[in-house]
Amino acid sequence: MSSDFSLFSLFTAGLACLLPVANAYTQPVGDAPSGNPISEPGLSSIVPAGQNYTITWQPTTDGTVTLVLLKGPASNAIPQYAIVENIPNSGSYVWFPSTDLAPTADATGYGIELICDSNGQYQYTTQFGISNPSYQAAAAASSSSASSSSASPTIPS
Ligand SMILES: *[C@@H]1O[C@H](CO)[C@@H](O)[C@H](O)[C@H]1NC(C)=O
Repeated sequence: MSSDFSLFSLFTAGLACLLPVANAYTQPVGDAPSGNPISEPGLSSIVPAGQNYTITWQPTTDGTVTLVLLKGPASNAIPQYAIVENIPNSGSYVWFPSTDLAPTADATGYGIELICDSNGQYQYTTQFGISNPSYQAAAAASSSSASSSSASPTIPS
C-alpha cells in the first residue's frame, strides 16, 4: 500500500515539474528594497564580461539568497535570469558575466537584484555598465535568436 502511495507521489511531482513556470527562481515580495546593501558593483562600476567579478554585499538576513541580473534603465529594469540561486548569504559571490551580454556606452544599463529565498525581501545594486570588447551584436543575435526568443523573460507588471 505504501509503495502505491509513493508511486503516486512521484507521478504527481513529475507533473508539477512539467508545468511552465515563467520565473522559477525566488520572486521578490513587498514594495520597497531593504537589507543586504550591495557595494559591488556600485555607482560607476563597469563590469568586464568574460572574467570573474566578485559581487559584494553586507549580509543582514538569515538563510539563502538568489541573485538576478536586470537590464534596462532604473525606472524599468527587466529581470533577465538568475545569476545564481539559493546560495548562503555570505556577502559575496564570484560571477562570470557571459560574453553574450551587450556592452553599455557608460556605467548604466544593468543591475542586480538580491532576493532572500525565505521571504522575498529584496535589494538592488545601483546601475552599472558592462564592457565587452569581443561582443558582436550580429553574430550574437543570429546564433542565439532561436533560444533567446523562447527564453525571453516575463516582464513583471
Ligand atoms: C572563475 O571563478 C571560478 C570559481 O571561483 C573558477 O572555477 C574559474 O576558474 C574562474 N574563471 C576564470 C576565468 O578565472
